[in-house]
Formats: sequence, C-alpha cells, structure tokens
Amino acid sequence: MEIIDLIVLFLFGMPLSIHGKFTVNGPSHPVVAIVGEDVLLECWLKPEMSVVRNVVVRWLKSDLGSAVHTYRNREDNTADQDLNYRGRTELFKDELTKGNISLRIKNTRVQDEGKYICSADGETDFKETTIELKLGGLGREHWVQIEGYQKNGIQLVCESNGWFPEPELLWTSGNGQDLTAQSEIRFQEDSKGLVTVQSNVAVMRDSSNRFKCLIQNKLLRKEQEATIQISDDFFPTVSGWLVFLSVILCLLIATFTAGIVWIGKKYRYAKGLEVDKSVKQFGKVLTFKYPQCSNVGRGNLHVQEGIVILLNED
Ligand SMILES: *[C@@H]1O[C@H](CO)[C@@H](O)[C@H](O)[C@H]1NC(C)=O
Repeated sequence: MEIIDLIVLFLFGMPLSIHGKFTVNGPSHPVVAIVGEDVLLECWLKPEMSVVRNVVVRWLKSDLGSAVHTYRNREDNTADQDLNYRGRTELFKDELTKGNISLRIKNTRVQDEGKYICSADGETDFKETTIELKLGGLGREHWVQIEGYQKNGIQLVCESNGWFPEPELLWTSGNGQDLTAQSEIRFQEDSKGLVTVQSNVAVMRDSSNRFKCLIQNKLLRKEQEATIQISDDFFPTVSGWLVFLSVILCLLIATFTAGIVWIGKKYRYAKGLEVDKSVKQFGKVLTFKYPQCSNVGRGNLHVQEGIVILLNED
C-alpha cells in the first residue's frame, strides 16, 4: 500500500488521500518566542494532503489534562479546550488543505513554555510529534542609581524587570574592569512569572567614574544595559577606611594613656601607704631611742615621692 502511494505521488505528484499512511512533522529544535508576542508552532503532514472531514487535529501540552486546540469535523472544537488557551489559539484554515496543521498561540505567557504534542488522527492512521516551546522575556525598564556610601566607595544599585528566565548581570567600569565578582544579585518573580533582577556593587573612584550594568538573556541572545556617570565630587574625599583607622588609633591612644595614669596612681598610693607606715615606725623608734624626738608627730611631715622629710620645730 505504502509503495503504491509513493508510486502514485511520484508519477502524478498528486496529494494523497488521508486514508493512506502519513507522518506528522515538526521542527526538531525548540521554538523560541518572546513573552507577550504571538508564536507559530509549525506542524505538517507528509505527504502533503488535505485535512478532510474524518481527520481530527489535536494539539496537547505534555503537562495539561485538557487540549490546547482541537479541530474536528472541519471546525474548531472548544469544548475540551484548556481555559488558559481560550481565545488564544488558531489553526490556518486555508492551509489545512495542504496538510499544514500549524498552531498559532497569541499573546504568549511564561506558563505556555513546555512540550506540545501535535497529532493527526485519520481513519487508518494516527501520528503525532512533540514540539518544544521556550519563552524568553526581555527586560522592559532598567536603571542604575546611587544607593549610598559604603566604606570608601559608592554603593550602586541596578534594577530591571520583565525578564524570563533569570538573566545574567554584569558590572563593568568605564576602563573595562569587571566588577561582577564584587556584586550581589537578587531575583524576584512577579505575578506573571517574570523576573525582576536587582544587583548592588560598591565602586571606587577611577579614571572614568562611569559604571555599566549589563543584563543578558542567554536564550534570546539579547542584552540591555544601563550606565551611570558619577561626578568626582560624589566620592568621599577622605576615605572611610582612613577615618575608621584614625578612630581606632585615637581609641587605642586614649586607652593606653588612661591605663598608664591609673597604674601610676595605684603605684603612688601604694608607695604613699608604705612611707606612712615607715614614718610611724620611725617615729616610734625615734621616741623610744631619743625622747627629744617624741614631738615628731607634731612636726610637719612631708611625704614626697618616697622621701621622708621630718621638720622638727626644735
Ligand atoms: C503553515 O501556514 C502558516 C500560515 O500561513 C505559515 O506561516 C507556515 O509557514 C506554514 N507552514 C508550513 C510547514 O507550510
């Protein structure tokens, strides 16, 4: 039967009846589309033949229970269509006679990404093929701004929304230095599944004072950038690091001085006590040995740095 069909096709170049054998074909590589735009998932029958009354064309998605699009009895059948695809799909009616059963999905969403099954069910044959759809979102708005001072530099923040999947973000300075390793990156998903990216980096004054934030979507091979030019005056004149160091140094000096003063006082107090004691003993000895010195207590006693001066009135 197949050989006869091929001979007929070869000899007459005529479209075969759907009653014969056929194949369903699609692109072997994933189809890439931009979120929010329309996408065409191409699928065709071989040999070229008309989709007649008794053929059912069905588009399914591997992770969905209900159909994405069904064409039966020469009309679209919405009864079993998944709600997420309502009003967003169409087949090309004029093309169906040529075996072109491609599907158009309008206004794509992040959730549309996945594996689609394009199938044709004829009277004598059923065939299907899988087509992968990948979606990419390119940021809508992006900016770089100064967030504040940090250490001896300026803290910059770069933000952009509407990405899918998570983009890559690179920081470079005007003189070509890659600052990405010093940066921090955060991702946040919005209600539509699109990603908002935010990144911080601390920059220091350099010859250009120009800093660039580059955001890339590897899937779409597209990128967007935002640049900021900072005036020299914005950079702190005395580096924060130096200020920090001087504060530490001052604290150290103050502590050291206080320590010395305290130790000195303690030492002098102890010495004073000792002198006092020896003076009293000296006074007793003096009184005992030389009664004329008994009025030593009434004399002026000066204790000065460990030297005892007795000034007797006599
Ligand atoms: C199917 O039809 C669409 C719409 O006219 C067209 O863009 C597409 O190239 C066709 N595909 C094939 C395989 O003929």
